[in-house]
Parts: sequence; C-alpha cells; structure tokens
Amino acid sequence: MNEKQLAAEKSIEFIKNRMILGLGTGSTVFFLVKKLAELVKQGLDITCVSTSNQTSELAKSLGIRISSLNEVEKIDLTIDGADEVDKNLNGIKGGGGALLYEKIVAKASNKVIWIVDSSKYVLQLGKFPLPVEIISFGSNQLLKRFDELGFNPEIRKNGNDNFITDSGNLIVDLHLNEIEDAINLERQIKLIPGVVEVGLFNNIADLVIIGKGNSTEIINRV
Ligand code: A5P
Repeated sequence: MNEKQLAAEKSIEFIKNRMILGLGTGSTVFFLVKKLAELVKQGLDITCVSTSNQTSELAKSLGIRISSLNEVEKIDLTIDGADEVDKNLNGIKGGGGALLYEKIVAKASNKVIWIVDSSKYVLQLGKFPLPVEIISFGSNQLLKRFDELGFNPEIRKNGNDNFITDSGNLIVDLHLNEIEDAINLERQIKLIPGVVEVGLFNNIADLVIIGKGNSTEIINRV
C-alpha cells in the first residue's frame, strides 16, 4: 500500500455512524472515498458533503450519498488532502484547484483531518506554488500586481486553455519558494480585489495523518 492510501485508510477510524462527513479532493482522498464506499455497502449510514465535482462524481458512482452544504446544519468531520503542511498544521492546498470549496467546507466543520504522504510534511511552507483563485475580470491587472509584489505569478493552464475552477474562476500559482509568515500572507493576498480565495489554510486542520513507509503518524494540533 502506498503512503497516500495508508493515510486515507487510517482516517476511516475517525468516521462514526450517522456522521455528516466533508469529503476533500485529490488523489489521497480518492483512496478514502473507495474505502468509504465499501463501508457504506456494509451498512455505514453517512451523509457526505463534497468539495468538488470530481469528488461528487466519484462518490456518487460508488453509491455514497452526497448532500449540498446548504442542506446540512453543520459538518461533523472533514477529511481532505493537502499539498504541504508544517509543524503548526498550517498548509497549502489547491493543487487540484478545489481550494475555494475546500476552505468553505473546512470552516463549516467541527473537526478537520488532513491525510498526506510523508513528502508533504515540510519545515517551511512555500516550495509548492501557492494557488490563488481569482475572478477573470481584470485578471491581467491582478497578475501585474502579484508580479510587482515579487510573487512570481503563473496563470494555471489546462492544455492550451486556462484552468477553470468548479465555480468558474481562474487559478494563479505563486512561486514563492518560501513563506515566512503564512498568517500575514493569507491576509495580504485576500485583501487584493479580484482574489476569491487563497490556498493558505492556516489554523484549520486539527489533526494530520501522515503515511510514512509502511505505517502512519498522527500529528495533533497543540
Ligand atoms: C485540491 O485542490 C487540493 O487542495 C488537494 O487537497 C491537494 O492538492 C492534495 O491532493 P493530492 O491528495 O492529490 O496530493
């Protein structure tokens, strides 16, 4: 079993019958959804809220019930992947472009668990390009602004076209290399007009499950 699958299957232990469960997006969550589908077939009663069309389609195709966020009062637990996470459990997300829905779902959750392979646990955030979701109106102005700030912006592509998020926006990846102050950077970027969401997820994860070799390690927020 690879590290992503190990972390994903370990997270199953935190799921209880009748929970409202937030489902993240990505290749690690893929293993979670597969395992969850097996448990649903065996009788687990669960309602899921999804963070992307990709996850919704996968879950539904495997017989998992998906509700919209507006249909539920609160989410008990959300399990999601991450692109980088540091020892304070701050992280970068959005490598798959689902950061906006992922942040909204996480903020509506009582508890958030991230499942990652060992390469994602880093001393300092920033090697992974920071995804920022922006609206397309005036996007060239925004790119200029990011450039002036020294953020090395790059508009995300899908082949020859721009990558379009589930909510119809664009993604700019900022090549920062290192992030000294994740809290202030999130605020600074979020305040720029045209920015919809930033892929910095600070103080959101309560617990991270890291797949490491043949086992898993759990890190709790202190
Ligand atoms: C989706 O936009 C992301 O936030 C994912 O959660 C993140 O990129 C992790 O993806 P993988 O599990 O595929 O590495």
